Amino acid sequence: MTLLSMQGVKILATGSAIPHSVLNNHQISNMVETSDDWITTRTGIEERRLLTGENKSVVDLGTLAALKAISKTNISPLDIDLIILATSSPNDLFGSASQIQARLNASKAVAFDLTAACSGFVFGVVTASQFLQTGSYKVVLVIGADVLSKWTNWSDRNTCILFGDGAGAIVLQNCSLEKNQLLGFQLNTDGLHWNHLKLSYKEESKPHSSLNIYQGSFNYISMNGKEVYKFAVSQVPLSIMKCLQSLDISVSEINWLLLHQANERILTAVADKLSISRSKVIMNLNKYGNTSAASIPLALDEAVCEHKIVNNDIVVVSGFGAGLTWGTFVLQWRS
Ligand code: COA
Repeated sequence: MTLLSMQGVKILATGSAIPHSVLNNHQISNMVETSDDWITTRTGIEERRLLTGENKSVVDLGTLAALKAISKTNISPLDIDLIILATSSPNDLFGSASQIQARLNASKAVAFDLTAACSGFVFGVVTASQFLQTGSYKVVLVIGADVLSKWTNWSDRNTCILFGDGAGAIVLQNCSLEKNQLLGFQLNTDGLHWNHLKLSYKEESKPHSSLNIYQGSFNYISMNGKEVYKFAVSQVPLSIMKCLQSLDISVSEINWLLLHQANERILTAVADKLSISRSKVIMNLNKYGNTSAASIPLALDEAVCEHKIVNNDIVVVSGFGAGLTWGTFVLQWRS
């Protein structure tokens, strides 16, 4: 979608946070029947980080990533108008964004959670841009943070090899259209296939003793890996092509392809389908695994800190995952 906006969106800074505790493939092979070789060959993942310790949550990681991003700007937390926390692993189902707002002392900001699994950061940035382009808000903080280790069945080798914990954040500000960095976006949902990847609510077999209501609790993550793989490899290139076409940008103009860090084979297959050189694919999943909503801002922050992404680069960003949800936005980086 091209943006018929009144104002532009400027990226002020990025930040990220990862837990200290490392779990490598060898350690996982002591827990379930698998091997380092199987995991690296099929996924590219070598190790992941886990948020360990009592009472630690997505709020800790999200706050740290946000503080790091804010510290690279001239703004104070009091300048933030809106905080969007993209997460599927809140520490409170009523929302965790307000706890981050309090920890940051961003008392003027309205804060809410956005749940779109591994597409959460892309959906969050696009949501933020709507407020910025209309001029409703001037400064928006978008955080992608997840602690899927809390929802992983560590006896299920189909899923426990994939996920890790992390957080990333971006500070956005409205600006003149000439300085706009968010060129366009394309978002999708396919609810018919929600079953392929889920963290669903499981009801008790019997209703409440006097009321005909079924209570329950949330299950572990479950996944049909083959279907999710096929979905990502077929739909993500289409989303990217639609977005590029709407902007009249050709594939050859892309400097970086930044995809949700799910699996090396998915990332290279998408690049190959689009005829984008694998050298333009940003990848850090070997160190962190799939960190869900955190993976894109974490990889973006690393690529910016390492001076991979430089002034004027065109960066194509795509998220995909449970829902099923997927989407793309295109950035022009300005340092
Ligand atoms: N270690 C060793 N063997 C494993 C294993 C593990 N961790 N997990 C599964 N296997 C076995 C299976 O039991 C099966 O054995 P069988 O042939 O005797 O039945 C064999 O390996 C192949 O399993 P399969 O599920 O067909 O593997 P795959 O090639 O599809 O790879 C994934 C599995 C998960 C790596 C792959 O499907 C994938 O990457 N899917 C996308 C997942 C993803 O990215 N999800 C998040 C998106 S946001």
